[in-house]
Amino acid sequence: MKKIPKPLIKKLEKRQESGAFRTLKTKSQLIDFSSNDYLGLARLEAIPIRAEQILNESGPRLNGATGSRLLTGHSVLFERVENQIANFHLTETCLIFNSGYDANIGVFSALPQRNDFVLYDEFAHASIRDGLRLTLAKSQSYKHNDFEDLEKKIKRTTASSTVWVATEAVFSMDGDSPDWDKFGKICNRYDIHLIIDEAHATGVLDNLPKIYRQTNLEKHLTARVVTFGKALGCHGAAVLGKPSLKDYLINFARSMIYTTALPPVSLANILAAYECLQDVSNRKKLQENINFFNENLSKSGLDKFFIPSQSAIHCCIIPGNNRIKKLSLLLEKSGFDVRAILSPTVPEGKERLRFCLHAHNTESELQNALEILTTQL
Ligand SMILES: Cc1ncc(COP(=O)(O)O)c(C=O)c1O
Repeated sequence: MKKIPKPLIKKLEKRQESGAFRTLKTKSQLIDFSSNDYLGLARLEAIPIRAEQILNESGPRLNGATGSRLLTGHSVLFERVENQIANFHLTETCLIFNSGYDANIGVFSALPQRNDFVLYDEFAHASIRDGLRLTLAKSQSYKHNDFEDLEKKIKRTTASSTVWVATEAVFSMDGDSPDWDKFGKICNRYDIHLIIDEAHATGVLDNLPKIYRQTNLEKHLTARVVTFGKALGCHGAAVLGKPSLKDYLINFARSMIYTTALPPVSLANILAAYECLQDVSNRKKLQENINFFNENLSKSGLDKFFIPSQSAIHCCIIPGNNRIKKLSLLLEKSGFDVRAILSPTVPEGKERLRFCLHAHNTESELQNALEILTTQL
């Protein structure tokens, strides 16, 4: 085969020079402060056992979906799983996509129309931005969680255009959330359509529907995106909303239409994982670990380096790709898997160590990792 063109090789060399060269690493046996398996469901043996039962109840076994959902890929199992997910998240309908990336590509490319305007948080996930690249609508970011900036930008849109606002319930690279009360107050002054990506909140925060109701955001909320590759410990995603949203996406979301549907084994795993969420003990343990980590940050004075967070994601900002890589390596040598998030994934100067906390982390693991950090800062 032929090598990639020279300009692309040059781009790779530049990446290497800036210390931002990405490589693939196999899973380590280190203490997990990096996976998205917040509740430990990816490692729970009960899930494949239950999934096997679900598959046995679901008629003739197929290894694959055999086609797009609009052709041969749809099934009774799909309907069962979608109903369960809609009930769990207290919404009318649910439409499964093959991943959160595909869901955002589908939603953001299909919903906003030519004369519409999309305002999205500047830290929105790459999948939201990539979806927006495929729409004919105009789009612009607003400053992270800055609702005065959002309001300024809503006011600049023309009265005749439909305005979409997009945010995340828990930001993937910062671990913070919108101030829901402030967000609600601003949104309630305008006729907007809201899309919330709940990827890092799915299965972790169970109070979102209550928050949406209390802040009146519910009346603007047009689509919620939940994903199964993080706290659910499997793979795939769903878009939640009104029946008309589901019908619309089945007709116009190309990332759902023109792809082979998830195989039955994935659907069975997703259903088994949702059944596991009925037991709140993992969620409770994760919350205890989050509280313990935050208490230790303030006791040790490390909190001034960390972005305040009540979620499972906690980021310690230390500028410079090389410095952050060294710290991550030092933690690795002590047995901790804490990933360095480098620019250009985050803006230059905002490079960070990203601690993902889990139900399966012990208090001594949390304490020991922070002690190492204290000696270096
Ligand atoms: C906020 C957010 N949305 C969407 C996705 C994509 O989800 P998936 O991994 O299921 O493709 C991610 C994944 O990192 C994410 O962080």
